[in-house]
Amino acid sequence: MATTTQGTAPLSRIPEDRPSSLELVRITEAAAIAAAHWMGHGDNNSADQAAVEAMRRSMEDARFNGRIVIGEGERDEAPMLYIGEKVGRGDGPEVDIAVDPLEGTNPVAKGRPNAIAVMAVSEPGGLLHAPDTYMEKLVVGPPARGKVDLDRPVEENLKIIADSLRRDVSDLTIVILDRTRHEKLINQVRDAGARIKLIEDGDLMGALSVAIAGTGVHAVMGTGGAPEGVLAAAALRCIGAEILGRLRFRNDEERARARKMGVTDEKRVYRTEDLASGNDLRFVATGVTDGEVLKGTHFFARGARTHSILLDRLMGKLRFIDTTHFEDIDRPPLIRLE
Ligand code: FBP
Repeated sequence: MATTTQGTAPLSRIPEDRPSSLELVRITEAAAIAAAHWMGHGDNNSADQAAVEAMRRSMEDARFNGRIVIGEGERDEAPMLYIGEKVGRGDGPEVDIAVDPLEGTNPVAKGRPNAIAVMAVSEPGGLLHAPDTYMEKLVVGPPARGKVDLDRPVEENLKIIADSLRRDVSDLTIVILDRTRHEKLINQVRDAGARIKLIEDGDLMGALSVAIAGTGVHAVMGTGGAPEGVLAAAALRCIGAEILGRLRFRNDEERARARKMGVTDEKRVYRTEDLASGNDLRFVATGVTDGEVLKGTHFFARGARTHSILLDRLMGKLRFIDTTHFEDIDRPPLIRLE
């Protein structure tokens, strides 16, 4: 391995004034802790609101001049973290930010796995301003990048993915959101002989799992949120995996909104680098409830513990960050090794 990819050598290509990565992690940690208090309470809205408020508050003193490009919605429908909102202290570098303060409101409300607080950051213009609609997605790991095609029959894509992993189609596991709209897709995947992991929510976490070997899943197929597609692209671009996406409008209002945002070709297939074109891309997510890649937020006397993933394209690093948070700095909680 070339030494330039190890240790400190790549620092020369990092903009000197970029906000520190720990500063970014602090923001998703705050959202995750706030949301995790609502686990199992059956109250999606309160969980989401807590995450939004905590994320917004923790951005107030962050050293960047940020603009939300993917957030809680348009200015008229979201009081905080709306598209176009300026965030951060305002005295640092300009950055575009995509957020989902709570990806998985249902899992939190029901105490189910894989809810996360998530954010992607890039230099201005580096993240697609995707309309808040659906997106048909195909996510594959690095070995199948550049080989699959959203317009190919499902069976053919499965064969390509299997070949790239040197295994049989019957040894693939495909993540699909458990929705009636996926009935045909599910039948096609089953007919081809692959296994399926139906998930209740959280196709963004599914995408991340696909990009990491050893998680036991090999592709995400089907239609989910478009904003989650952009966030996934930011993560996948950092680690050489791929998402292909095509917008799927639920109604004419969404279509009109998208047109206003500059979407002219409804059938366009967006590739990873179209959704997240930035050079200085970073992706950070903190677990709210336990999942396959991230542990959830856990509370104990006078403290909490969070588990985050940080992907940094320019640095060429993936970091898992395990943080113990003290409620009172003068009375730290008991620190555990594991
Ligand atoms: P939330 O942020 O609303 O909790 O989204 C969860 C989620 O499951 C996403 O992961 C997925 O992309 C989308 O919702 C699917 O939407 P729908 O539930 O309408 O099928």
